[in-house]
Amino acid sequence: MKKILDAISEEMRKAFAEAGYDEELGKVSLSNRPDLCEYQCNGAMAGAKKYHKAPIMIAGEVAEKLKDSAVFSEVNAVAPGFLNLKVSDVFLCDYLKGMEAADKFGLETPEEEKTVIVDYGGPNVAKPLHVGHLRSAVIGESVKRIARYAGYKVIGDIHLGDWGLQMGLIITELQERKPELPYFDESFTGEYPKEAPFTISELEEIYPTASGKSKEDPAYKEKAMENTFKLQNGVRGHRALWDHIISVSVADMKRNYEKLNVEFDLWNGESTVQYLLADMVEEMKKGGYAYESEGALVVDVKEESDTKEIPPCIILKSDGAALYSTTDLATISERVTKYNPDIMIYITDKRQAMHFEQVFRCARKTKLVGDDTKLVHIGFGTVNGKDGKPFKTRDGGVPRLENLIHDIDEEMFRKIVESRQEMPEEEARNIAEIVGLAAIKYGDLSNQAAKDYSFDVDRFTSFEGDTGPYILYTIVRIKSILAKYQDQGGSLENLELAPAISPDEKALMMEIAKFNTMMETAFAECAPHKICAYIYDLANAFNRFYHETKIISEEDEAKKAGLIALLVLTKEILETCIELLGFSAPDRM
Ligand code: ARG
Repeated sequence: MKKILDAISEEMRKAFAEAGYDEELGKVSLSNRPDLCEYQCNGAMAGAKKYHKAPIMIAGEVAEKLKDSAVFSEVNAVAPGFLNLKVSDVFLCDYLKGMEAADKFGLETPEEEKTVIVDYGGPNVAKPLHVGHLRSAVIGESVKRIARYAGYKVIGDIHLGDWGLQMGLIITELQERKPELPYFDESFTGEYPKEAPFTISELEEIYPTASGKSKEDPAYKEKAMENTFKLQNGVRGHRALWDHIISVSVADMKRNYEKLNVEFDLWNGESTVQYLLADMVEEMKKGGYAYESEGALVVDVKEESDTKEIPPCIILKSDGAALYSTTDLATISERVTKYNPDIMIYITDKRQAMHFEQVFRCARKTKLVGDDTKLVHIGFGTVNGKDGKPFKTRDGGVPRLENLIHDIDEEMFRKIVESRQEMPEEEARNIAEIVGLAAIKYGDLSNQAAKDYSFDVDRFTSFEGDTGPYILYTIVRIKSILAKYQDQGGSLENLELAPAISPDEKALMMEIAKFNTMMETAFAECAPHKICAYIYDLANAFNRFYHETKIISEEDEAKKAGLIALLVLTKEILETCIELLGFSAPDRM
């Protein structure tokens, strides 16, 4: 279905052509003077030179052609030559009816199947999820849902940090603590125990301990490197222990991500592509791309047009070890082979921008990926505390994700109980969790990803202003009006939208009509914040309309049915949008 602006522009182009001017001049945009008009066209100004005519005359002639237009209720040619436009209520109503009847409210989707891989989450095994992981998970989940809604086949991959020295460190510490375990006995040929010899809390304590020790004790570090080497070379006990580390850690991650309503299709990681590394490196050498520099193996990725220094992409360190970039390159190669994606989107901290720039360039140069696959890095900013400095716990540590969610849920619970004393505690707890998730996610997603933001429990959980709870509150309000309507015997079937009867109603309908334009941009720019801004405007428009309009007490049944139809559509759009942001609304709150 055409976007509303395109439908309007088409009518305007026709008028320009009929008046004898180039139809390209009939481009319409949203008005930047909403007090005067809804849309505007500046084509007469642009055409003045070409036609040697005063713009106001051209505008006047075009306006004349639109006198009987079904699209516009008002076309005013104003000095020095603008066309100020208002759309007709009937046209707007018909447009909304078209959205209602269409799949996805008329959003156009690609005709052939296209595939997108979204690489997000990216936690490191055996380290607790902290506030930094929140953004990757929340933004990535939304980008994934948006791409799916936009009609793409989408694969979400968590890309675990599950390989390298980090694993060797954990194995070393376990060996110190539990040398009696069979994993360290290389002559052991029996079956290893099914149970992991540690719990998740032990694991989370072991890693920082080991990492601290290796910084102080060179012998310990040596040991950790040796263990890493053994793991990477498939020593049986080391692999078995690694399996335990992964399964204990992944079980805990799944629990955490589930709380965030975040779900991955693939649980791959850096380890997944180890089998590809040797051949890939060999090919890069053979192709003349990779060469030795100061002992390391590198690929030059700078380009003539660069305005800043882009260092070479390092493929192997001087000790022959693979790096983060090596596994990322191999992962690109594996994804191309397995899924032939049209787009790969990576969601990480923006401090990794250079890493991805190098990896993307290297992948293209070495032909791991063709020119028709888009590689996109979405870098996000830091989560700060209320003081604007990077978020810290009271004792200076990095806050765990679990605790953040807990804090928000508690505050939400307090607020719900405060306003709803009659609500049973269990219900209030459930609702607090649903609304709490919206508070966190909206608090994050409503900021443009690249910007830093402050994690502000008070603001995020407020029922007023640009917050998740405010959006949910609006949806719940609509649900309750619809329930009342049904209680009075009204049916939600076969309702028909009617042309707006008040300016507030029209304003609400105008917001609804913007949906598919907004969605197109949100997808093209991987920008969930556009959805947030849209539903905030939509919720505001709805609430203004609601305060000015009799709905349930409206006596004219036909009129009432039209209003109810508009409520249903508003609710559906809001619900679709929050689903794309990764949260949902309760039935009451
Ligand atoms: N594990 C990485 C980190 O903690 C993030 C991984 C992102 N994905 C990727 N393909 N590099 O920084």
